[in-house]
Amino acid sequence: MALGRHMRVIESKNSRYKVKIFCRFYSMSAIHPQTSQHLSLPLLPYCNKHKLLGSSKLNLLKSTHNSDPHHRHEPSIIMTPIYSNIPAHGTVLDIGGSDMSTSVRDRLLAVLLDSHAPGTTPVMPDELLYNDKGLAIWAEIIFTPEFYQTADEIAILARNSTEISDYIPQGVTMVDLGAGYVDHSFTDLRKVENLLAVLEKRRSSSTYLALDISRVSLKTNIDMLTPMHKNVTCAGLWGDFNRGLSWVADLDPAIPRLFLSLGSVLFNDSWDTAVANLKRWASLMRPQDLILAGMDGHTIQNHREKIWAAYHAHPDLYAKFWSNGFAYANELLGEEYLRDEDWECCAELEDHEGRHRFFFKANKDVAIGDKTLPKGFEFEWFDSHKHDEEDVLKMCEEAGLSVIKSWHAPDSEMRKSSVLSALHCLFTGSNEC
Ligand SMILES: C[S@@+](CC[C@H](N)C(=O)[O-])C[C@H]1O[C@@H](n2cnc3c(N)ncnc32)[C@H](O)[C@@H]1O
Repeated sequence: MALGRHMRVIESKNSRYKVKIFCRFYSMSAIHPQTSQHLSLPLLPYCNKHKLLGSSKLNLLKSTHNSDPHHRHEPSIIMTPIYSNIPAHGTVLDIGGSDMSTSVRDRLLAVLLDSHAPGTTPVMPDELLYNDKGLAIWAEIIFTPEFYQTADEIAILARNSTEISDYIPQGVTMVDLGAGYVDHSFTDLRKVENLLAVLEKRRSSSTYLALDISRVSLKTNIDMLTPMHKNVTCAGLWGDFNRGLSWVADLDPAIPRLFLSLGSVLFNDSWDTAVANLKRWASLMRPQDLILAGMDGHTIQNHREKIWAAYHAHPDLYAKFWSNGFAYANELLGEEYLRDEDWECCAELEDHEGRHRFFFKANKDVAIGDKTLPKGFEFEWFDSHKHDEEDVLKMCEEAGLSVIKSWHAPDSEMRKSSVLSALHCLFTGSNEC
């Protein structure tokens, strides 16, 4: 019996086979060796979503087409894994982006309607801020001079993309987690374009997939990148991180993958949450896969003013950002429950957590349907964690990732303090799918 490389026969009795499946989805056909006729194969693949591993009973029916004893050979089975299709150059593939609003709405309702344990502050989903309009405002914010993180990452990529590309295997598929949006009226340099330009010049055939929740931003980015690249296929994946994770898990294992986490996407959380999140991506990785992760290594203790300025030098832009988030929340609630003027925007730098956090306080009783949020009710929205290089190394170790190289921003302050923004090239060599 011919089985694909992701299958093993673990039990065979008469014409019944138990087959172990090492990958998630298969198309299946069985062909009788003599008659070349397709046979009926009732296969019920068992799929453990997380481990992508399971066993399944395969009832292989002996041919009923020919009773001639010379023809009583086992039919051969061709099992072809169904892998994720790489979208075509210049396109955006919907991998769940169009039905994501329900889960964001559920999390929003939980903040507004659930009861919260004393001493805890509910957290509004960041996804409310990153809709099509919100991401355009965010693009304005990150290109203000005080928002050093963007300038640092651009500088690191501009200086080191040639060296970084030496680590990138031929035929790679890059998935840019939370790719964001860049309006060319702010800059003509995209972070990632530095790297793509090197790959393009090397005529290295590769694929760049921007993953994000805003379809408009994806479309804008991909429309911009497509004419610039012939050797690098550029396309978008419209969906959230969970959908991205499943989609990526089903990529052909022969294709090496590079997960890009620019703008601190993967490390921007409290220690345990960030490590748990890193582990989810690390668990997918095969030996040739890599993560290239940017992380803001400025610490609250050493860079208070610089960090504060990044989030407070342009209150008008942030006001637009929040206002758009409230408007999107109301759209999902179907009623204008959240009004800008009812909420005071507060912020602080927390030394113990190592983060900047925004939080909102109701300045009067706020009715949400039958429920009233009392004056003084607080929710958090949009915190920014800072982890220096030592932290990043420890977090990676906990997540089972090795850091193979780090590049730092060419900042004069580097001489004074330990580490500023950095890009880390991470990899793990376990868990083959
Ligand atoms: C801090 S920005 C980083 C943007 C970009 N990588 C950069 O370096 O500037 C976070 C990005 O993640 C996206 N995002 C937020 N929540 C997401 C989710 N649940 N799934 C996928 N993308 C998400 C946002 O739309 C935004 O583009």
